[in-house]
Amino acid sequence: MAAKIAVIYYSSTGNVHGLATAVAEGAEAAGAEVRLRRAAETAPAEAIASNPAWQQHRVDTQDVEEATADDILWADGVIFGTPTRYGNVTAQLKAFIDSLGPQWAQGQLADKAYSGFTSASTTHGGHESTLLALYTTVHHFGGIVVAPGYNDPIQFASGTPYGTTHISAQGENPLGDQERAAARFQGGRVAKVAALLAGADLTV
Ligand SMILES: Cc1cc2nc3c(=O)[nH]c(=O)nc-3n(C[C@H](O)[C@H](O)[C@H](O)COP(=O)(O)O)c2cc1C
Repeated sequence: MAAKIAVIYYSSTGNVHGLATAVAEGAEAAGAEVRLRRAAETAPAEAIASNPAWQQHRVDTQDVEEATADDILWADGVIFGTPTRYGNVTAQLKAFIDSLGPQWAQGQLADKAYSGFTSASTTHGGHESTLLALYTTVHHFGGIVVAPGYNDPIQFASGTPYGTTHISAQGENPLGDQERAAARFQGGRVAKVAALLAGADLTV
C-alpha cells in the first residue's frame, strides 16, 4: 500500500523549504502520495518586511498551501521541518502543532510515523535539541518516531541520526547536494515505515 505523507514545514528564508522539497521527493520516489504544506506565518508584517530574504521567500512560496489538521489526519506519516530558534522549534510551527489539541484529545494523531528536519545558522547551534524537542511532542501524540539513524552512508557524510539538518551560516551556505540527498533518504525511509503502519492494527 502506498503511504500518504504530509511534509509540514515552516521557513522564513528558504533553507527549510529547500529541505522540505527534497524530503517530499524522497517520499514520492518511495511510492508515497505527498502533501507539501507550510505552517501559517504568525510574524508581524513589519518584521517580515525588515528582512529582504524573508520577504522574498514569503512571495516565492505564497502558492504553497497552508497546513491544516486534515493534512495530519489524512497522513500515514508526517515529516515536520522547522528552522532552529534558540535551539528549539519555531513559534510558527509550534502554533500549528498547538492547534491540534482537539485531534490529540481524540487519539487521532497516534500510530502514525513522524520525523523531523531543521536548518540552523551555526554548526553547534542546536540542530539536535530542536529535533529532540520536536520528538517530545511526537511522544505526546502517541506517534512513532522514524529517525534516519545511520541507515544510509549519507548519514556519515551529511545528515544526522536524528533527522536531516543544514548549516545556513547566516545565508552564506545554500543547501547542497549532500543535505538534499540526506533529506531524500529521510523522506523515503518515513514513507516505507508509514506504508507498513497504514495497514497495521496497533490495538493492544
Ligand atoms: C529568532 C531567531 C533565533 C535563532 N536561533 C538560532 C539558534 O539557536 N541556533 C542557530 O544556529 N541559528 C539560529 N537562528 C538562525 C536560523 O535557524 C537559520 O537562519 C535557519 O537556517 C533559517 O532557516 P530558514 O531559511 O528556513 O528560515 C535563529 C534565527 C532567528 C531569527
